[in-house]
Amino acid sequence: MTERTVKIGIVGSQFQADIHAASIAMGKHGEVVAVASPTAGNAAELAARYGIPKAFTDYREMLKDPEIELITITAPNKLHCQITVDAANAGKNVVVEKPMAMTLAECDEMIEACRRNGVHLFYAEELFFTPKYVKAKQMADQGAFGKVYLVKQSEMHFGPHADWFWDIDRSGGGVFMDMGCHGLSFCHWFLGRPEPLTITAQMGTYVHGERTRGEDHTFAIVEFAGGAVGHVEDSWARQGGMDDRVEVYGDQGLTIANLHMGNALPTFSATGFDYAVEKAPTTVGWTYPVFEELWNYGFPQELEHFCRVVLGREESDATGEDGRLALQLLLAGYHSAGTGRRVALPFDAPEVARPVDLWLHPRAE
Ligand SMILES: NC(=O)c1ccc[n+]([C@@H]2O[C@H](COP(=O)([O-])OP(=O)(O)OC[C@H]3O[C@@H](n4cnc5c(N)ncnc54)[C@H](O)[C@@H]3O)[C@@H](O)[C@H]2O)c1
Repeated sequence: MTERTVKIGIVGSQFQADIHAASIAMGKHGEVVAVASPTAGNAAELAARYGIPKAFTDYREMLKDPEIELITITAPNKLHCQITVDAANAGKNVVVEKPMAMTLAECDEMIEACRRNGVHLFYAEELFFTPKYVKAKQMADQGAFGKVYLVKQSEMHFGPHADWFWDIDRSGGGVFMDMGCHGLSFCHWFLGRPEPLTITAQMGTYVHGERTRGEDHTFAIVEFAGGAVGHVEDSWARQGGMDDRVEVYGDQGLTIANLHMGNALPTFSATGFDYAVEKAPTTVGWTYPVFEELWNYGFPQELEHFCRVVLGREESDATGEDGRLALQLLLAGYHSAGTGRRVALPFDAPEVARPVDLWLHPRAE
């Protein structure tokens, strides 16, 4: 007997929407039936590319469709809360992309709206599903490295594709907000979700000061209950395409997981070719084209997991609470970088419209 599929509507039609559509098509338990995006023609274009039957310019119209059970939100960060609450009130399960929202109050509103309406709130942290990193965690959980004392995660490239990321009013911050959230969630998840005790962060705008008030290279150190440390480094200032890696150190061993090396073909081309890897500026000369890129990131596995949870076959492993904790750590990290101090957690964040404000306009202790 073939099992029914979860009918999905995507909000947004560009970069991450394309990844969601392609990834869901690789799974067995989800089917994208609609897409909504405000710019005329954009939703229809994504729909045509993936054979999606319905396209809307207003996501609120899409939410009226009774067929849809799950909404994935691939709109700019500032819109995550409103769209989540509207979707939950329409009785839809929600996948919200990272970072979860702009403020902890928004996170609470999103969690509460989903709870009240009896729908799932999934936090789209694909590093929980990235095969190479999952393998590292499986080995750590089996004791391969003894007592793990340090987990490092970093993601670096030369900056995002769309203007809104660089506009802190719509993004909430620079690379820490955009990619620090991955590393902070990853270290917490990898270590078995111990309580974070402190965070210390350093950041600057080293390369892209003409384009953004946000930070473009950041370091954060998190001390967890039980003694392990997470080290998270992120950059929008690194030339040469995407670099994403994890290192794990314990008293009995270590592992190094470079996401793109080992899934890549060292290649030289004098002419260039169509595509090497996300954010690579060229395919001419020496490049490292990857294969099965989405699978190696973990997106298909992540979205398949969410569909299986909606079908009642699995418990959710990436929830609104994970997204809220990441934002709590981001806020405390910005505060640490702004004040030059180590910050104790949980951090009672002052009300700011954008997390980066705690770095740009440091608050007194
Ligand atoms: N998990 C990851 O690795 C990953 C990667 C990239 C982006 N993201 C996240 O996905 C989200 C979207 O990023 P992106 O790269 O796709 O951005 P993008 O600029 O490529 O696409 C944003 C989309 O949102 C749409 N949009 C804007 N206003 C809207 C509205 N009012 N209602 C509905 N749609 C609206 C835009 O029209 C566009 O289609 C962000 O939160 C980003 O952080 C996650």
